[in-house]
Amino acid sequence: MKLDRLISQHLQCGRKAARDKLQSKLVRVNGHVECDSSRLIELFDHVSLGDDAIQALSPRYLALHKPGGYVSATIDSEHPTVIDLINEPWADQLHLAGRLDRYTTGLVILTNDSRFSESLTQPESEIPKTYCVQTDIPITEEAVTAFKAGMPFAKEGIYTQPAEVQWSPENSPRSCTLTIFEGKHHQVKRMFSRFGIKVIRLHRESIATISLGNLREGDYRALSDVEVSAALESRKKTR
Ligand code: URA
Repeated sequence: MKLDRLISQHLQCGRKAARDKLQSKLVRVNGHVECDSSRLIELFDHVSLGDDAIQALSPRYLALHKPGGYVSATIDSEHPTVIDLINEPWADQLHLAGRLDRYTTGLVILTNDSRFSESLTQPESEIPKTYCVQTDIPITEEAVTAFKAGMPFAKEGIYTQPAEVQWSPENSPRSCTLTIFEGKHHQVKRMFSRFGIKVIRLHRESIATISLGNLREGDYRALSDVEVSAALESRKKTR
């Protein structure tokens, strides 16, 4: 949005009055006096008029270890949401970069930066997401072969990207680590159910280079600059 528009909205005055205000040299953008009414203001630019903050949003990027029972939504009338776990005054600014089912545990990314959430969720970016899966009956070679080859998802009209599977049938026939490269609704459960196998526990360990590490259930941490820029970088590559 242009600077004069932002000021006119804030002061509820016309654009001409807003431009006059700019000439008073009281408006600062990111700490510097700004008189150019056509200056484009981005979401995270800090704008002040004298001592009055007109726009002071800071970018936020969090990794949360979602416990079972919490819904991946910002508001829900029946169940606790992941936002309820964020003990910050700016928690209500956040949205999710990809959801988990209510009883799926593990890594969820929360942010107020839509460029960032897009970079993690847009299908073309093929962001890897790694899950630990436990099933009701032994996983079969047939299922693993199909996951690795990619399989049709008729509802979406796609073929899934070849998944990566770590599975040791001799040691743990009913569990595996699965990495998928898209995020379709109930994707992992649907992949297994195609072979008559039910997923009884699902836990997300990582998204791209962002891992849960030793974050405890219900806890969250800020993403590092390296984690944020790597995700934004991956978005640029797919443009
Ligand atoms: N796949 C699923 O089936 N559920 C999830 O929560 C995430 C991936």
